[in-house]
Amino acid sequence: MSNKLRLTALGAALAFGLTACGGGGAGGGGDDTADADAGDLTIGVSMPTQTSERWIADGDNVKSQLEDAGYNVELQYANDDIPTQSQQVDQMITEGVDVLIIAAVDGTALAPQLENAAAEGIEVIAYDRLIRDSENVDFYVTFDNFSVGVAQANALLTGLGLQTADGGAGTATGPFNVELFAGSLDDNNATFFFDGAMSILQPLIDDGTLVVPSGQTSIEQAATLRWDQATAQARMDTLLTGTYNDGTVLNGVLSPYDGISRGIITALQNTGYGPDLASTPRPLPVVTGQDAEIASVKLINDGVQSSTIFKDTRNLAEQAVAAATAFLEDGEPEANDTETYDNGVKVVPSYLLPVETVYADDIASVLVDSGYYTEAEVEAGQAD
Ligand code: BGC
Repeated sequence: MSNKLRLTALGAALAFGLTACGGGGAGGGGDDTADADAGDLTIGVSMPTQTSERWIADGDNVKSQLEDAGYNVELQYANDDIPTQSQQVDQMITEGVDVLIIAAVDGTALAPQLENAAAEGIEVIAYDRLIRDSENVDFYVTFDNFSVGVAQANALLTGLGLQTADGGAGTATGPFNVELFAGSLDDNNATFFFDGAMSILQPLIDDGTLVVPSGQTSIEQAATLRWDQATAQARMDTLLTGTYNDGTVLNGVLSPYDGISRGIITALQNTGYGPDLASTPRPLPVVTGQDAEIASVKLINDGVQSSTIFKDTRNLAEQAVAAATAFLEDGEPEANDTETYDNGVKVVPSYLLPVETVYADDIASVLVDSGYYTEAEVEAGQAD
């Protein structure tokens, strides 16, 4: 790949009589790109992990859409490891990419890399996860993360029968026992999801409709480092042995991400919950999710997981490509939010996309009809 990039940089220099901008022969976006052919420009794409399908889809979508627009792409996955991602981004800067699109493993760890990028005139687009503590984040493309948490909480209430899917009054009154899970604290999104969810759940905890028998209601107590499935399973195991072994029934679990949901469900099934909602005396609790990962879509189809939040990564990729193109043409990407995402140093102009809640009944209309999955993939629980 690096050879190809060097050739690309050389090609650009020959074609336009430019030495790529920045020092030491490194390329970089800056002002030189506006007149360049897309084929002479390279976008560095840094994704966090391949252990989650979501990020594989993001990487594929961003790469193919950038290539369709004529750009060269250097795509790397960081194996959920902070030093690996730092090295990969450093390497892309050295190789002279023109724009960086980064979904951070740890949103607080990339400030030095971003400083190097800025020195080379390379614009940085934070992809889905805000990069914090750096003034060198030029744009942010994401979903409306607070509304993801709100949607997850509403899906929990709907699953419990406290409300209907369209927000009307439900037939159940509670009280219900629930447990709360959150994402990785080094991911800015985790706080947005949890805050969004608690904006709905806290009043119901306060009035006794919902009870959290473990007492673990803070984001620190609920957090799951690196959004890891096994970590979530282990915490659920601990909750089940610590709080529920006296026969207390668990009715619902707020889960922020499908991988975490699958860890929770495995722990529950290993302890005798389920296997389906109709089984007694311990039916599986209502479990929420996020990302519409195919394994969880199958679980939802089978009545095991209750819901997920669909984030159409094709649309997110489109926004990232639009932002990269704007920078390369010396313009500014179009933001639809210039207030929400303060990264600790500045408010980063953002483009937020909407999300959709998916229950079993919505799989066909939302996921299959839109071409996100085929019916066969949903049946198999595996993407082709
Ligand atoms: C993303 C979620 C995803 C989570 C775990 C978050 O930053 O916004 O969609 O579930 O990371 O990968």
